[in-house]
Amino acid sequence: MKKKIGIIGAMSVETELILEKAEVIEKIKYAGISYHVCKYKDLDLIVSTCGIGKVNAASCTQVMIDKFEPDAIINTGVAGGMHSDVKVCDVVISSEVTYYDVRKEQMKSCFPYKESFIPCDTLKTAIIAAVENLESSKIGYHVGKIASGDSFVTEKEQKDKIIRDYEPLCVDMESCPIAHIADINEIPFVIIRSISDNADEHATMSYEQFESIAAYNSAQILLHALDGMCVM
Ligand code: ADE
Repeated sequence: MKKKIGIIGAMSVETELILEKAEVIEKIKYAGISYHVCKYKDLDLIVSTCGIGKVNAASCTQVMIDKFEPDAIINTGVAGGMHSDVKVCDVVISSEVTYYDVRKEQMKSCFPYKESFIPCDTLKTAIIAAVENLESSKIGYHVGKIASGDSFVTEKEQKDKIIRDYEPLCVDMESCPIAHIADINEIPFVIIRSISDNADEHATMSYEQFESIAAYNSAQILLHALDGMCVM
């Protein structure tokens, strides 16, 4: 059976390489977001640029699942580094995804509540293989926890609190809602993020400088992983 992979990026810089390499068959708009129905080698892809933040990401993921029924969902994009080993332009592959702006103590009594979401092992292994095999690639990579919230982290106090409470390798604004919606729909998922900044007082400048390279790194690894899936 042909595989259909849903690919979500928050901004066009994060999805443009995928759309350039794939053959776009059709573009369909739901709730203000475009879904590109594409072919890439043996695979069917649905590629979407969801917009920034948790609500946009959640809405896009649920619509993608309802309207296009992907077999798996992969989120690609940039992130703020939260660990001294994780350098700008390195890649982080999710082993766990959580929200850093949810009051766990209050939410624990609510049903259903999950503190974090675990990506699909097969997809995670495919992404690791892709980054390791990428010809001439010297991209550093890390496998670990990603934390999401509705802010672009630029302040030391906020960064320190997130590290103290969650110990993530990086932060972003969409991974966890994408993982959350994929999880409740029982769709396998994985997140790939490349570091554009260190989520500190230099973050805005660093982001402007490294956003394109980091977004490219992440998308390039994703494409290489898709190449591997074509022969699986
Ligand atoms: N994505 C890229 N950099 C980020 C940061 N510093 N905070 C949140 N999301 C990000």
